[in-house]
Amino acid sequence: MNIDSKRKDEHVELAEKQYVSGSQSDFQKVRFVHHSFPEMATKDVSLQAHLLGHDMPLPFYINGMTGGSEKTKKINADLAEVARQLNLVMASGSVSAAIKHPELVDSFKVIRDVNPNGFVLANMGPNHSVENAKRAVDILQANGLQIHINAPQELVMPEGDRDFSIWLKQIEQIVAHVGVPVMVKEVGFGMSRQTIQQLMSIGVQWVDVSGRGGTNFAAIENERRTSFSYDDLENWGQSTVISLLEAYEFKSDVHILASGGVKTPYDIIKALSLGAEAVGLSGQLLNMVVNDGPEKTIMTLEGWRDKLIAIMTLLGKKSITELQETDLIFQRDIIDWCDMRMID
Ligand code: FNR
Repeated sequence: MNIDSKRKDEHVELAEKQYVSGSQSDFQKVRFVHHSFPEMATKDVSLQAHLLGHDMPLPFYINGMTGGSEKTKKINADLAEVARQLNLVMASGSVSAAIKHPELVDSFKVIRDVNPNGFVLANMGPNHSVENAKRAVDILQANGLQIHINAPQELVMPEGDRDFSIWLKQIEQIVAHVGVPVMVKEVGFGMSRQTIQQLMSIGVQWVDVSGRGGTNFAAIENERRTSFSYDDLENWGQSTVISLLEAYEFKSDVHILASGGVKTPYDIIKALSLGAEAVGLSGQLLNMVVNDGPEKTIMTLEGWRDKLIAIMTLLGKKSITELQETDLIFQRDIIDWCDMRMID
């Protein structure tokens, strides 16, 4: 097995090993105010959301995770089956491995084979040429491309990149020339106002802030290290809640998406109320598919649909857009961050 396939298997194993069930993130530091008169019925709720110009019946998507080995091919097939049956947008994991080792293409292509008519996103890092980006899109006959930015992960990863000087330039080129819509995402370290401004300045229109609170790639890469470990970096980055507050002022100029630590329908509603247009699931969905299989995962997610409708009814909100005008209460440390950063 080559080093890339081995890493893909280790990422899944370690994400699973480190998985903690239930919300234990900053989402718990956000609360809604209960008002006694919803003045609407559950049938009035629309869960419709939009992603990269595509209409989605549910406001969440399967975020980039895996591919690149036999084991992850099976996981991609199961995730793609969930995506097919529920009509969810699904991103692959980084296709770089297949560009380097063409024999690994099938472990990504399986997403398209299982779900021929689905809305699929290819995924890769920013250190690629436009040609490679087009190849990644081609492999999956993808409708869009995710570019992941993950400097902390690369630095802790023993075999990771050490030079980030041309990332913005490369992303600018890919966005301009790849020929499909592009989403730029973090991988669980969150984003700042400055990052979002930089992305906007190079023409990026879709940004997933992917913050702290769930899968922790500093911790995952630390476990893969044989020499010293970068323990301090395990607390690096902004939570998804803080990242959304950092992003809030750009809401009308760029499409803001959220992921990172989203484990319950309640978390989804909180992320949408904080300005996200749709929400990405990774670690939680991986855990469900690996342990329960696709059919049970689909049943669980159908239950999530009812729960989303119930919470929106309680809040008196009929649409994802209306959710953005919800009364929210924050714990003190979130308010302190906003004060220090001068966020209104
Ligand atoms: C990921 N993630 C990821 N992201 C990406 O853009 N390309 C990738 O190849 C991967 N690989 C990957 C593997 C595994 C096993 C997991 C669990 C995750 C990161 C993912 O999309 C997301 O940004 C973070 O995991 C944070 O979300 P959760 O897991 O807390 O919901």
